Amino acid sequence: MASPLTALGVDAPILAAPMAGGPSTPALVTAAARANGLGFLAGGYRTADALAEQIARVRSDGVSFGVDLFAPNPLPIDPEAFRRYARAIAPEAQTHDVDVQAVGIVEDDDHWSEKIDLLLSDPVLVVSFTFAVPDVAVIASLRAAGTLVVQTVTSPEEARLAAEAGADVLAVQASAAGGHSGTFTPQRIPAAIPLPDLLAQVRQEVSLRRCQVE
Ligand SMILES: Cc1cc2nc3c(=O)[nH]c(=O)nc-3n(C[C@H](O)[C@H](O)[C@H](O)COP(=O)(O)O)c2cc1C
Repeated sequence: MASPLTALGVDAPILAAPMAGGPSTPALVTAAARANGLGFLAGGYRTADALAEQIARVRSDGVSFGVDLFAPNPLPIDPEAFRRYARAIAPEAQTHDVDVQAVGIVEDDDHWSEKIDLLLSDPVLVVSFTFAVPDVAVIASLRAAGTLVVQTVTSPEEARLAAEAGADVLAVQASAAGGHSGTFTPQRIPAAIPLPDLLAQVRQEVSLRRCQVE
Protein backbone atom coordinates (compact mmCIF):
# COMPACT_ATOMS: atom_id res chain seq x y z
CA MET A 1 0.00 0.00 0.00
CA ALA A 2 1.41 3.44 -0.89
CA SER A 3 2.01 5.49 2.23
CA PRO A 4 1.42 9.25 2.52
CA LEU A 5 5.20 9.60 2.31
CA THR A 6 5.62 7.63 -0.90
CA ALA A 7 3.01 9.95 -2.38
CA LEU A 8 5.51 12.76 -1.66
CA GLY A 9 8.25 10.96 -3.58
CA VAL A 10 9.93 9.55 -0.46
CA ASP A 11 10.90 6.06 -1.50
CA ALA A 12 13.89 5.26 0.73
CA PRO A 13 13.37 4.44 4.43
CA ILE A 14 15.53 7.38 5.44
CA LEU A 15 13.97 10.10 7.54
CA ALA A 16 16.48 12.61 8.87
CA ALA A 17 14.64 13.28 12.14
CA PRO A 18 14.61 16.88 13.32
CA MET A 19 17.27 17.90 15.83
CA ALA A 20 16.77 21.34 17.32
CA GLY A 21 19.74 23.34 18.55
CA GLY A 22 21.83 23.24 15.37
CA PRO A 23 22.41 19.73 13.99
CA SER A 24 19.52 19.79 11.46
CA THR A 25 21.14 22.11 8.96
CA PRO A 26 19.56 22.88 5.57
CA ALA A 27 22.46 20.91 4.02
CA LEU A 28 21.53 17.80 6.05
CA VAL A 29 17.87 18.11 5.06
CA THR A 30 18.81 18.44 1.39
CA ALA A 31 21.19 15.46 1.65
CA ALA A 32 18.37 13.29 3.06
CA ALA A 33 16.14 14.27 0.15
CA ARG A 34 18.86 13.58 -2.41
CA ALA A 35 19.12 10.07 -0.92
CA ASN A 36 15.37 9.74 -1.75
CA GLY A 37 14.46 10.09 1.92
CA LEU A 38 12.95 13.02 3.77
CA GLY A 39 14.70 15.51 6.00
CA PHE A 40 13.16 17.77 8.63
CA LEU A 41 14.20 21.29 9.51
CA ALA A 42 14.07 21.74 13.29
CA GLY A 43 11.88 24.76 14.02
CA GLY A 44 12.35 24.42 17.78
CA TYR A 45 14.27 27.24 19.57
CA ARG A 46 14.08 29.37 16.39
CA THR A 47 12.19 32.55 15.65
CA ALA A 48 9.79 32.51 12.71
CA ASP A 49 12.21 34.67 10.72
CA ALA A 50 15.13 32.30 11.35
CA LEU A 51 12.95 29.35 10.33
CA ALA A 52 11.80 31.19 7.18
CA GLU A 53 15.43 31.70 6.23
CA GLN A 54 16.19 27.98 6.60
CA ILE A 55 13.07 27.06 4.61
CA ALA A 56 14.19 29.37 1.81
CA ARG A 57 17.62 27.71 1.75
CA VAL A 58 16.24 24.17 1.39
CA ARG A 59 13.63 25.35 -1.12
CA SER A 60 16.36 26.82 -3.28
CA ASP A 61 17.80 23.27 -3.55
CA GLY A 62 14.47 22.17 -5.12
CA VAL A 63 13.88 19.19 -2.78
CA SER A 64 10.99 17.95 -0.60
CA PHE A 65 11.35 18.49 3.14
CA GLY A 66 9.45 18.75 6.40
CA VAL A 67 9.48 21.24 9.27
CA ASP A 68 9.23 20.21 12.90
CA LEU A 69 7.84 22.41 15.69
CA PHE A 70 7.62 22.06 19.46
CA ALA A 71 3.89 22.21 20.21
CA PRO A 72 3.22 24.17 23.40
CA ASN A 73 2.75 21.92 26.40
CA PRO A 74 1.08 23.86 29.20
CA LEU A 75 2.87 21.91 31.96
CA PRO A 76 4.84 24.39 34.09
CA ILE A 77 8.51 23.66 34.79
CA ASP A 78 9.13 22.32 38.31
CA PRO A 79 11.85 24.69 39.69
CA GLU A 80 13.37 22.01 41.96
CA ALA A 81 13.56 19.46 39.11
CA PHE A 82 15.12 22.18 36.91
CA ARG A 83 17.80 22.95 39.53
CA ARG A 84 18.49 19.23 40.05
CA TYR A 85 19.01 18.76 36.33
CA ALA A 86 21.21 21.87 36.08
CA ARG A 87 23.39 20.51 38.92
CA ALA A 88 23.62 17.10 37.23
CA ILE A 89 24.81 18.48 33.89
CA ALA A 90 26.96 21.29 35.31
CA PRO A 91 30.29 19.38 35.19
CA GLU A 92 29.79 18.45 31.53
CA ALA A 93 28.60 21.97 30.64
CA GLN A 94 31.64 23.48 32.31
CA THR A 95 33.92 21.60 29.91
CA HIS A 96 32.18 23.68 27.18
CA ASP A 97 32.55 26.90 29.23
CA VAL A 98 28.81 27.05 29.94
CA ASP A 99 27.61 27.88 33.45
CA VAL A 100 24.20 26.19 33.44
CA GLN A 101 23.55 27.09 37.08
CA ALA A 102 23.42 30.73 35.97
CA VAL A 103 20.68 29.93 33.42
CA GLY A 104 17.16 30.71 34.61
CA ILE A 105 13.86 29.01 33.85
CA VAL A 106 12.33 30.20 30.59
CA GLU A 107 8.59 29.65 30.21
CA ASP A 108 7.56 30.63 26.68
CA ASP A 109 5.76 29.15 23.70
CA ASP A 110 8.83 29.15 21.42
CA HIS A 111 7.24 31.70 19.01
CA TRP A 112 4.43 29.22 18.33
CA SER A 113 1.81 31.49 16.70
CA GLU A 114 4.36 33.25 14.48
CA LYS A 115 5.70 29.93 13.20
CA ILE A 116 2.21 28.53 12.56
CA ASP A 117 1.35 31.77 10.70
CA LEU A 118 4.51 31.32 8.61
CA LEU A 119 3.65 27.70 7.74
CA LEU A 120 0.08 28.67 6.83
CA SER A 121 1.03 31.68 4.71
CA ASP A 122 3.82 29.82 2.92
CA PRO A 123 3.02 26.09 3.30
CA VAL A 124 5.55 23.26 3.20
CA LEU A 125 4.84 19.63 2.30
CA VAL A 126 5.14 18.15 5.79
CA VAL A 127 4.91 19.59 9.30
CA SER A 128 5.62 17.50 12.39
CA PHE A 129 4.90 18.26 16.03
CA THR A 130 6.48 17.00 19.20
CA PHE A 131 5.84 17.37 22.98
CA ALA A 132 2.07 17.96 22.59
CA VAL A 133 -0.79 17.79 20.09
CA PRO A 134 -1.73 21.23 18.73
CA ASP A 135 -5.30 22.47 18.63
CA VAL A 136 -7.57 20.69 16.18
CA ALA A 137 -7.99 24.00 14.31
CA VAL A 138 -4.23 24.34 13.73
CA ILE A 139 -4.00 20.81 12.32
CA ALA A 140 -7.08 21.36 10.16
CA SER A 141 -5.70 24.64 8.77
CA LEU A 142 -2.38 23.06 7.87
CA ARG A 143 -4.10 20.14 6.18
CA ALA A 144 -6.36 22.56 4.30
CA ALA A 145 -3.19 24.29 3.08
CA GLY A 146 -2.05 20.96 1.60
CA THR A 147 0.43 20.04 4.36
CA LEU A 148 0.82 16.48 5.64
CA VAL A 149 0.70 16.57 9.45
CA VAL A 150 2.95 14.22 11.43
CA GLN A 151 2.70 13.86 15.21
CA THR A 152 5.38 12.31 17.43
CA VAL A 153 3.84 10.04 20.08
CA THR A 154 5.35 7.84 22.76
CA SER A 155 2.34 5.84 23.98
CA PRO A 156 -1.02 4.48 22.76
CA GLU A 157 -2.83 7.25 24.69
CA GLU A 158 -0.82 9.95 22.90
CA ALA A 159 -1.48 8.17 19.59
CA ARG A 160 -5.23 8.30 20.25
CA LEU A 161 -5.08 12.05 21.05
CA ALA A 162 -3.12 12.69 17.85
CA ALA A 163 -5.49 10.64 15.69
CA GLU A 164 -8.53 12.35 17.22
CA ALA A 165 -6.96 15.76 16.51
CA GLY A 166 -6.59 14.85 12.82
CA ALA A 167 -2.89 13.99 12.37
CA ASP A 168 -2.14 12.16 9.10
CA VAL A 169 0.94 10.23 10.26
CA LEU A 170 2.27 9.17 13.66
CA ALA A 171 6.00 9.07 14.40
CA VAL A 172 6.10 6.49 17.18
CA GLN A 173 9.06 6.99 19.52
CA ALA A 174 10.01 4.27 22.00
CA SER A 175 12.12 4.80 25.10
CA ALA A 176 15.27 3.41 23.40
CA ALA A 177 15.24 6.26 20.84
CA GLY A 178 18.25 8.54 20.86
CA GLY A 179 18.03 12.06 22.28
CA HIS A 180 15.22 13.19 24.56
CA SER A 181 11.72 11.76 24.69
CA GLY A 182 8.84 13.52 22.95
CA THR A 183 6.48 12.51 25.76
CA PHE A 184 3.51 14.79 26.49
CA THR A 185 3.95 14.06 30.21
CA PRO A 186 7.58 14.83 31.08
CA GLN A 187 6.87 14.39 34.80
CA ARG A 188 6.63 10.64 34.12
CA ILE A 189 9.47 8.65 32.55
CA PRO A 190 8.00 6.75 29.56
CA ALA A 191 7.63 3.00 30.04
CA ALA A 192 10.55 0.96 28.68
CA ILE A 193 8.59 -0.76 25.91
CA PRO A 194 10.50 -2.05 22.85
CA LEU A 195 9.51 -0.27 19.62
CA PRO A 196 7.85 -3.31 17.95
CA ASP A 197 5.63 -3.81 21.01
CA LEU A 198 4.79 -0.11 21.23
CA LEU A 199 3.91 -0.08 17.52
CA ALA A 200 1.58 -3.05 18.05
CA GLN A 201 -0.11 -1.25 20.96
CA VAL A 202 -0.50 1.93 18.90
CA ARG A 203 -2.00 0.00 15.98
CA GLN A 204 -4.57 -1.49 18.35
CA GLU A 205 -5.44 1.94 19.73
CA VAL A 206 -5.79 3.90 16.48
CA SER A 207 -6.99 3.06 13.03
CA LEU A 208 -4.68 5.39 11.08
CA ARG A 209 -3.46 3.60 8.01
CA ARG A 210 -0.15 1.83 8.52
CA CYS A 211 2.58 3.98 7.03
CA GLN A 212 5.28 1.83 5.53
CA VAL A 213 8.19 3.21 3.55
CA GLU A 214 9.52 0.43 1.35
C1 LIG B 1 20.31 16.93 19.58
C2 LIG B 1 18.94 16.41 19.32
C3 LIG B 1 17.91 17.31 19.08
C4 LIG B 1 16.62 16.84 18.83
N1 LIG B 1 15.63 17.73 18.54
C5 LIG B 1 14.40 17.27 18.19
C6 LIG B 1 13.39 18.17 17.73
O1 LIG B 1 13.59 19.37 17.62
N2 LIG B 1 12.18 17.65 17.42
C7 LIG B 1 11.92 16.31 17.51
O2 LIG B 1 10.79 15.89 17.20
N3 LIG B 1 12.86 15.45 17.91
C8 LIG B 1 14.09 15.89 18.24
N4 LIG B 1 15.07 15.01 18.60
C9 LIG B 1 14.76 13.59 18.55
C10 LIG B 1 15.17 13.02 17.19
O3 LIG B 1 14.45 13.66 16.17
C11 LIG B 1 14.88 11.52 17.09
O4 LIG B 1 13.51 11.28 17.22
C12 LIG B 1 15.59 10.78 18.15
O5 LIG B 1 16.94 11.15 18.15
C13 LIG B 1 15.40 9.25 17.94
O6 LIG B 1 16.04 8.78 16.80
P1 LIG B 1 17.43 7.95 16.92
O7 LIG B 1 17.16 6.81 17.87
O8 LIG B 1 17.67 7.52 15.51
O9 LIG B 1 18.46 8.91 17.44
C14 LIG B 1 16.36 15.45 18.85
C15 LIG B 1 17.40 14.53 19.10
C16 LIG B 1 18.67 15.01 19.32
C17 LIG B 1 19.78 13.99 19.55
